Amino acid sequence: MKKLIIGILASGRGSNLQAIIDNTKKGKIDAEIGCVISDKEDAFALERARKANIPAHYIYPGTHKTFLDPECEAEYIKCLKKHNVELICLAGFMRVLHPPFLRVYRGRIMNIHPALLPSFKGLHAQKQAFDYGVKVSGATVHFVDEGVDTGPIIVQRAVEIENDDTPDMLEQRILKIEHKIYSEAIQLFAEGRFKIIGRRVIKK
Ligand code: GRF
Repeated sequence: MKKLIIGILASGRGSNLQAIIDNTKKGKIDAEIGCVISDKEDAFALERARKANIPAHYIYPGTHKTFLDPECEAEYIKCLKKHNVELICLAGFMRVLHPPFLRVYRGRIMNIHPALLPSFKGLHAQKQAFDYGVKVSGATVHFVDEGVDTGPIIVQRAVEIENDDTPDMLEQRILKIEHKIYSEAIQLFAEGRFKIIGRRVIKK
């Protein structure tokens, strides 16, 4: 059977990318990684991809800090199409995608967020949760829509926050969960084992 082809966009160290690479190798995800693209030339994620013989591209993001310039966005789309990517996974990609991009891949872009959405959207979510004093936080994989961290939730998992935790300890604990649930969400997509009703992603 033809495998789902995923494209991963990452800006940094790429530990989620690594977990996805490992889980495709272990057969926990029925998909192959068509390419990895970064907006940072020196992202460790690109090195991880090259080491795994996955096409790795740095594509210039433009002059804005929080999104891709339109002409650069077009280059990203061109590259994803060249590699026949069917599902895009944002894994620590630090830029917001615009509606033209979202229209091309509507319902086929996922993101991972290190908190239980809709709480603690945006940057430094683990620290936000820690400072707020919540007793439970976690991680969320969701589809990407026009908002920031607002799309339909695919998988969520919780961790408890202990009295003697530090923000770093919490971040590490959440990261372990991220590495599991991103692969679970991708596999759900690969098997087509869900339907979306309104905001709800229902497992079949
Ligand atoms: C993760 O915490 C992810 O939830 C957030 O950015 C971080 C990326 O880490 N969106 P890594 O590059 O996958 O190690």
